[in-house]
Amino acid sequence: MPLSIRLAVNGEPRDVVLDDPRATLLDVLRDRIGLTGSKKGCDRGQCGACTVLVDGRRINSCLALAVSLDGAEVTTIEGLAQGEDLHPVQQAFIEHDGFQCGYCTPGQIMSAVGLIGEGGAADPEHVREGMSGNICRCAAYPGIAAAVADAQRRMAGQKG
Ligand code: FES
Ligand code: FES
Repeated sequence: MPLSIRLAVNGEPRDVVLDDPRATLLDVLRDRIGLTGSKKGCDRGQCGACTVLVDGRRINSCLALAVSLDGAEVTTIEGLAQGEDLHPVQQAFIEHDGFQCGYCTPGQIMSAVGLIGEGGAADPEHVREGMSGNICRCAAYPGIAAAVADAQRRMAGQKG
């Protein structure tokens, strides 16, 4: 029997009828809502390409059953920029060359936003540890780590 859920995706209410109760949040975002920024890498929780925020916490959307998220607030890479103004993490990835092919980048950026929201990372080692669930096959790790650390500094400055 089809199940109906309501999500708030990037601040907009989205009603979705699920024909398959096993549908993942990633598939709902990409195939039903048309937000293809979240990428499918491994589809088994191992690469982080599908990372989104659910109620402010980062998750692998390929592992989350959509039916279990009725009423949740979901933020995807498409929801970060404010019009023409990039989010500080997006800006930092550009400035620090935090990508090559870009396939992992939406997940890296969402994970970084989640990490900073969790209180951030005290030093480069903790940045690497906090981002360890996000794999980059292009090995752009030095730029990614520098971008996360820089964005964290800027966002702390904005708060203060
Ligand atoms: Fe979700 Fe790899 S696609 S962790
Ligand atoms: Fe290519 Fe990370 S930039 S996989």
